[in-house]
Amino acid sequence: MKILLTGGLGYIGSHTAVELINSGYDVVIVDDLSNSKIEVLDAINEITGVKPKFYQIDVCDKQELVKVFEENSNIFAVIHFAGFKAVGESVKQPLKYYRNNMDSTFTLLEVMEKFNVNNFIFSSSATVYAVSEVMPIDESFPLGASNPYGRTKLFNENVLIDYQKANPDFNVILLRYFNPIGAHESGLLGEDPNGIPNNLMPYICKVAVGELDHLNIFGNDYKTKDGTGVRDYIHVVDLAVGHVKALDKLVNNKNYGLGIFNLGTGIGYSVLDIVNTFNKVNSNLVKYEFAERRPGDIDKMYASPKKAEEELGFKATRNLEDMCKSSYEYQKNHKEKK
Ligand code: UD1
Repeated sequence: MKILLTGGLGYIGSHTAVELINSGYDVVIVDDLSNSKIEVLDAINEITGVKPKFYQIDVCDKQELVKVFEENSNIFAVIHFAGFKAVGESVKQPLKYYRNNMDSTFTLLEVMEKFNVNNFIFSSSATVYAVSEVMPIDESFPLGASNPYGRTKLFNENVLIDYQKANPDFNVILLRYFNPIGAHESGLLGEDPNGIPNNLMPYICKVAVGELDHLNIFGNDYKTKDGTGVRDYIHVVDLAVGHVKALDKLVNNKNYGLGIFNLGTGIGYSVLDIVNTFNKVNSNLVKYEFAERRPGDIDKMYASPKKAEEELGFKATRNLEDMCKSSYEYQKNHKEKK
């Protein structure tokens, strides 16, 4: 069964490609390489023994996208990962984010309609939830993103919900990711952002391999157990498995309609939990200093993973030690290769 992955060479897309291939799906990848590398295709091949068909195109380029659908008949579903994702950049260049992250969905939907492809899985984010004092967050919580990046996720969700309502044969699953970290156990796939990382784990990894001096922990006076921010970190391979479960659901339910699911573990870890676990399992000493709070950050956020467990049969199985170990292994390997 053929599945089209947009952004399939990115961090989450590539791990999902591997899990899909291992589950017997036939994967076709579209990626413009704007934030990914072609070598990832070889890594997928090395891990699975299968090199997916690949097209270097921008999803917003309708003519090129049509060609992909023409050359690959019978695509069963599209999993849409492609998109810009840097929160800070989205604040400075909102149009870039709105144009790209919205247009790609519009273009995909139009082309899917033309070719009668009726199943869609969307990479959404926990960032679509409004700030809440109540935890854990379940799928019925109020929505309200606080920056342009987050709003592109929220607007996309709305577009897809409206489109589904108007087209009852169309099925869509929105997956709201909490904080994906970790890397593939082979050490061949992982996250290595260009420049200085914004997110916690990539930053810690760069400190661990000596590329950065120390971690700045943004705030130690939050209302949490140790004063540092609490998040729901989920291993990227678990997250990838969540996509396979969502897809299985669509395969087995022809008229599925709409589904919305959190993908998280339900456990909140603080920044200090992460640093301490990282240092323990990697025999490393990542130095840190406490710094000012980062504007826009909240004290804590973690998921209720119940709905995904009950309805998709998905449960994250990898623990924080696995996440810290695999992230570091990938960073070390990757540094040697550079
Ligand atoms: C961020 C984005 C979110 C996006 C997600 C993708 C913001 C405000 N939110 O979430 O929209 O969906 O990434 O994974 O950018 N921290 C430090 N030092 C650092 C980096 C982070 O102390 O150098 C802390 C943060 O204050 C936070 C925690 O680590 O408490 C996690 O931060 P991060 O990895 O950036 O994720 P989020 O902010 O949760």
